[in-house]
Amino acid sequence: MGKATLFAAAMFLFMTLVSLSEGELDAHFYDLTCPQLETIVSETVRNASIHDPKVPARILRMFFHDCFIRGCDASILLDSTPKNQAEKDGPPNVSVRSFYVIDDAKAKLEKACPHTVSCADIIAIAARDVVAMSGGPYWNVLKGRKDGRVSKASETINLPAPTFNVSQLIQSFSKRGLGVKDMVTLSGGHTLGFSHCSSFEARLRNFSSLHDTDPSMNTEFAQGLRKTCPKPNKDPNAGQFLDSTASVFDNDYYKRLMVGKGVFGSDQALYGDYRTRWIVEAFARDQSLFFKEFTASMLKLGNGGVLENGEVRLNCRVVN
Ligand code: HEM
Ligand SMILES: *[C@@H]1O[C@H](CO)[C@@H](O)[C@H](O)[C@H]1NC(C)=O
Ligand SMILES: *[C@@H]1O[C@H](CO)[C@@H](O)[C@H](O)[C@H]1NC(C)=O
Ligand SMILES: *[C@@H]1O[C@H](CO)[C@@H](O)[C@H](O)[C@H]1NC(C)=O
Ligand SMILES: *[C@@H]1O[C@H](CO)[C@@H](O)[C@H](O)[C@H]1NC(C)=O
Repeated sequence: MGKATLFAAAMFLFMTLVSLSEGELDAHFYDLTCPQLETIVSETVRNASIHDPKVPARILRMFFHDCFIRGCDASILLDSTPKNQAEKDGPPNVSVRSFYVIDDAKAKLEKACPHTVSCADIIAIAARDVVAMSGGPYWNVLKGRKDGRVSKASETINLPAPTFNVSQLIQSFSKRGLGVKDMVTLSGGHTLGFSHCSSFEARLRNFSSLHDTDPSMNTEFAQGLRKTCPKPNKDPNAGQFLDSTASVFDNDYYKRLMVGKGVFGSDQALYGDYRTRWIVEAFARDQSLFFKEFTASMLKLGNGGVLENGEVRLNCRVVN
């Protein structure tokens, strides 16, 4: 090989490495520019969760919704403007709340290291923190995301619905580069939190022409939910915890699917379909396997759609 060829080969390798690292995330991204970052976020999230136990579940869900629409670019945090209805005001917005926690962390970070940390990275760190502080796994969050400038309520139509069957769930996740195992694993996020009646009551009455109640549901569980969610329902806050240990991150969610106690049709379907049942069974048997896979799938979800020409917002609710 001549020197020129060798040089060209080296250049090609170099260019490949450069283009690979562009838009790539790094666990040490803020080591020099904001070493206090993770401590500030963790303390803010922990403190908020002590005062409001709903915070962990809401932040985990916030991360999922953010990453599912336009990638993890903090589009979920932008407020609506007179000209634009933002994602957070899109139809399935019940219980994506607790935005103030991210605002708090951002305000502290703007003091400690001005105009450095993206809002998208704050959500990703906060999501890891709420899982770990609830008894789940801990992982190193990859950072270096940029914040987007676009947030559209109309795009929340691309979130999966609780009525989805397994084929629809697989399709929805595959559009974000997430496989069947990622889908079943991330659904385990429903080990935390709560659902309003509106998200599952179609399973309780007049379910189909053949069945008044969704037949995949445990009979007593369905009876209990009918009491929780009467028709008509005067209490707009009525609903059900997603598993029996809703503030603990564990594998109880999967154990409940095996006895017909999944709250959403989309949860219960995971046990009803041969393509996903074996994963549910494996996670119900082995919590450490679930934790290991959850870590991997959260990293994968968090790597999705990293923007190359986004910005670092000064205020997470408005574009700069
Ligand atoms: C597989 C498709 C999914 C569907 C169809 C779905 C649907 C829903 C629905 C309908 C609610 C209840 C909203 C309400 O009525 O208040 C909910 C809550 C929740 N979801 Fe999901 N979700 C899915 C995946 C995920 C993923 C991947 C995560 C995170 C890894 C997640 C985390 C949560 C959490 C933590 C809550 C509880 C929120 C709270 O307590 O405020 N979900 N989800
Ligand atoms: C913790 O929360 C309390 C009450 O909301 C607040 O006064 C305090 O400043 C918070 N501390 C941190 C570190 O966020
Ligand atoms: C939820 O979305 C509806 C529109 O579908 C909007 O009127 C409402 O203000 C939103 N709620 C929250 C808490 O953002
Ligand atoms: C899933 O739902 C879609 C849309 O309702 C339907 O076309 C499809 O046949 C269903 N697939 C399965 C396996 O039930
Ligand atoms: C169930 O469906 C029947 C016929 O479609 C209707 O008459 C009845 O009001 C429905 N019941 C409820 C609780 O929605």
